[in-house]
Amino acid sequence: MSSASTFHTAIVPAAGLGTRFLPTTKAVPKELLPVVDTPGIERIAAEVAEAGANRMIIVANADKAALADYFRPQPALEATLAERAKFDLLAKVRRAPDLIEVVAAEQPEPLGLGHAVGCAEGQLGPEDDAVAVLLPDDLVLPVGVLNRMAQVRAEYGGSVLCAFDIPREQISPFGVFDVEETAEPDVKQVKGMVEKPAPEDAPSTFAAAGRYLLDRAIFDALRRITPGAGGELQLTDAVALLIKEGHPVHIVVHQGSRHDLGNPGDFLKASLDFALDHPDYGPALRAWLRERLG
Ligand code: UTP
Repeated sequence: MSSASTFHTAIVPAAGLGTRFLPTTKAVPKELLPVVDTPGIERIAAEVAEAGANRMIIVANADKAALADYFRPQPALEATLAERAKFDLLAKVRRAPDLIEVVAAEQPEPLGLGHAVGCAEGQLGPEDDAVAVLLPDDLVLPVGVLNRMAQVRAEYGGSVLCAFDIPREQISPFGVFDVEETAEPDVKQVKGMVEKPAPEDAPSTFAAAGRYLLDRAIFDALRRITPGAGGELQLTDAVALLIKEGHPVHIVVHQGSRHDLGNPGDFLKASLDFALDHPDYGPALRAWLRERLG
């Protein structure tokens, strides 16, 4: 475990309906769609493991049991691959179960992201004084921001969120933080948050990304919020309540890029980005793209 780690458990809320990926999501959870050769949820699990946590709670509904199943060992398949000396495939099959312990929690109805996080509380242990929350739609690159967030929690206490500095004219689709500077250029104290502002109304250019390191106090706040935007119990409303009550909340402004895996257009960009760097697929894809684009 990394020395700065102040968390052991990550919650991955995956009980949404995935409407932007219909009709595929009628039968396949979007988190299992392969980004090149690896499902998005495995990339998230690798990020959690890399941050030093040892447990990942997947919050899903009864139709998405395949998500936790993906992390279970498959002894019969593994034995067959070993008998046939397919050791490279065997390594791929073992990768997910070897990464991290995965447990399932159920959100029977999609009542909102805040509600989904609350559904994981029963799976926490006494040692979990903070939990990471990762939105599986959101790939944050390069991997490693959770380590920095854990350092910031160790330094300032409270809860820590991840942000990107976005050009003001592109800020409108995001949740935007109202902040005060700290002595560290990549860390800001959060005073408030505005959802999807017009560029001229945005309190900063720091937009929320799908990574949170939340003090356990969040669960008490989640019990006290009422439905917000879209009639859903919103995680950001619980964070706002904590801020109002004097709980320290900071952001880490991450230098890097992100991919949204939640809709086909951006999913394609992510796939291309990873495929172009892939030693097996990259060179042929690059040549084909050159030809295709004329
Ligand atoms: P999104 O709104 O981006 O995902 O929620 P969605 O609802 O699955 O997809 P669309 O909008 O219908 O296409 C962000 C994250 O929160 C989870 C989702 O699974 C996603 O990972 N979530 C959302 C829940 O777990 N439960 C909810 O009630 C809502």
